[in-house]
Amino acid sequence: MDMVAATPAAHVLVFPCPVHGHITCMLHFATGLLAAGLHVTFLHSDHNLRRAAAASSPRLRYVSIPDGLPVEHPRDVGRIVELMESLKTKASVAYRSLLASLLLGDATGGFPPVTCVVADGIMSFAVDVAEELGIPALAFRTDSACSFLAYLSLPRLLELGELPFKDGDDLDEPVRGVPGMESFLRRRDLPSQCRDCSDPDNDPLLQIVYGFTAHSGNARALVLNTAASMERAALAHIAPHMRDVFAIGPLHAMSPTAPAAGGSLWREDDGCLAWLDGQADRSVVYVSLGSLTVISLEQFTEFLHGLVAAGYPFLWVLRPDMVGASQSATLREAVAAAGKSKARVVEWAPQRGVLRHRAVGCFLTHAGWNSTLEAAVEGVPMVCWPFFTDQQINSRFVGGVWRTGLDMKDVCDAAVVARMVREAMESGQIRASAQALAREVRRDVADGGSSTAEFKRLVEFIVELSTTAVAAIKDEEYVASYVNI
Ligand code: UDX
Repeated sequence: MDMVAATPAAHVLVFPCPVHGHITCMLHFATGLLAAGLHVTFLHSDHNLRRAAAASSPRLRYVSIPDGLPVEHPRDVGRIVELMESLKTKASVAYRSLLASLLLGDATGGFPPVTCVVADGIMSFAVDVAEELGIPALAFRTDSACSFLAYLSLPRLLELGELPFKDGDDLDEPVRGVPGMESFLRRRDLPSQCRDCSDPDNDPLLQIVYGFTAHSGNARALVLNTAASMERAALAHIAPHMRDVFAIGPLHAMSPTAPAAGGSLWREDDGCLAWLDGQADRSVVYVSLGSLTVISLEQFTEFLHGLVAAGYPFLWVLRPDMVGASQSATLREAVAAAGKSKARVVEWAPQRGVLRHRAVGCFLTHAGWNSTLEAAVEGVPMVCWPFFTDQQINSRFVGGVWRTGLDMKDVCDAAVVARMVREAMESGQIRASAQALAREVRRDVADGGSSTAEFKRLVEFIVELSTTAVAAIKDEEYVASYVNI
């Protein structure tokens, strides 16, 4: 990433939603801002900062605020709405106070006052509070442009009567109303929040996701971790609804050095890389369902039998909190017994290193956006078993648009797992599409590529906003009234 001549006064507060996939993505973004010469304050929750062992450096510092939940709260996927609610009602108060103190120029570390906020687009309050204090704010979404466009199209889907689906409706019916996707989008490909809501006008979850998506139009700009070569059409349809849009991804490939310490909330098991070293080229199936997915014991068993039947060695990430109440040790034993010497289980893998490894032949994934981008950059064929939210539409793009893998959504059956894994491992066509996409995406992030150019434009945009922000903060008394409340 090119260094640009940034004013030293440009100081960006980066505020991700405090869950893993959002934090790592926005850390890569912060790494890019640092490389461009800006100051960055990275805002964690207290809970995550304790886990992340973050180390500040001369132009980067980590700070934290309480997320408002009790210490013993599990903060898992089943109760994520509670986390979102607590951020909005409780963390927002601490955030306002912190921002006010950073705005007035905090003495520690010689940092200039904060001049710009880049906040996770799923936390609208973070943009609003910043703007109320006179700090220009941008919305950053860590998911795909295609999912963002689907969320943005919810009113149109309702108007056309595409939502709600009724019990027993055919999920393979095409869906009109998401622009540019009429020829391939089916009901089952819509973000998971569109299912199981009999009264969409009053469905709280749907209202929340539509609310924060549309709200990005109030921010100074929308920043997306995506590449033009992957999502050109969706980006073009989003642009008229936003003040500006920057497609600057895949960020992990823009700043290939690991993001500043403080990324992973789990300890990576590097031993699996040595295990991969001992395997033949493209012989291993890598299985990971991301940081939030939970599965039942029955689903675990179907996956296990399918993987064994496929006949390839496999490396499986089984987070301790992933399979119901089952103990990790029991699951490991089950895998060892069924997979014999061909199976390796880890609680958390160095995923980018794994996907880059010559021994990996395909990726059985939940199609989280970070994982999808990481596989795209490495040209690894995918088998997608989406769990929730954006993953349902991401997997449709993998199977039906980029054709870099297969979409296994809504089925968890050993025979299907075995068949799809074999096809992804053996199909020359899928591999060729995956490698072609990888070449395009790598061009996007190389010097002169579209994402690199967009990142540069974004830095200039932030620097420009920062200059006007510094000039605009006149009401110090108002700001000071929020310090330490
Ligand atoms: C979910 C969404 O699906 C995603 O699109 C959204 O933006 C964030 O929430 P998550 O389950 O975290 O995401 O999946 P994903 O977006 O794929 O992120 C997982 C990250 O964890 C990836 O960067 C992956 O490399 C990393 N990972 C996963 C590891 O480093 N090791 C592992 O063992 C598993």
